[in-house]
Amino acid sequence: MRVAVVCASQYGATMGIAERISAELGLAGLDVRVYDAARPPHAEDVAGYDAFVVGSAVYMGHWLKDATTFVRRSQPTLLEHRVWLFSSGPLGPETTDADGADVRESTVPAEIADFTNTLRPVGHRVFFGAIDPEALSLGHRVIRKFPGAAGKIPAGDFRDWPEIEAWAREIARALVKTA
Ligand SMILES: Cc1cc2nc3c(=O)[nH]c(=O)nc-3n(C[C@H](O)[C@H](O)[C@H](O)COP(=O)(O)O)c2cc1C
Repeated sequence: MRVAVVCASQYGATMGIAERISAELGLAGLDVRVYDAARPPHAEDVAGYDAFVVGSAVYMGHWLKDATTFVRRSQPTLLEHRVWLFSSGPLGPETTDADGADVRESTVPAEIADFTNTLRPVGHRVFFGAIDPEALSLGHRVIRKFPGAAGKIPAGDFRDWPEIEAWAREIARALVKTA
């Protein structure tokens, strides 16, 4: 069974998640290929896959444009297959916010409601992300210093690898069961 993992990543943290998911799916015996959504697969390549895992980094509450463009452009193909979505966003060591809400639920990006309606994905997960302040563009450095952003974009790698791998194994189990 062939699986395409398509990922939009500005600085590499989300691509790292995509690669880890791909490695787990490969360990389960699936034939996996990772694509950068900035250089997405051609329509004919996409047509050859049995399942899709599509992910994006989240900036200002939204998926990166390359990922949304891939989803919208490939919608006819995606609709015929099982699709899992993931987002890499929240930063910091806390999994709950000041109101006690799970950060992974309060940071679901804007596009997901629409994609849930149109694609009917098997699931969507938010994973904690990572940033290296030295690598940020000037624009992102400025946003990070806005008074309203104070402390909300802390530096560091908060990716939870066991959580990511467990999710990938769930996907593998679902696919292998029906292969
Ligand atoms: C300027 C800026 C804005 C961000 N906005 C959000 C946001 O709105 N929601 C969120 O969950 N994460 C946000 N993040 C965190 C990134 O999504 C996270 O660091 C992600 O893992 C980066 O992935 P990448 O290296 O693949 O681009 C922001 C980060 C920066 C630097």
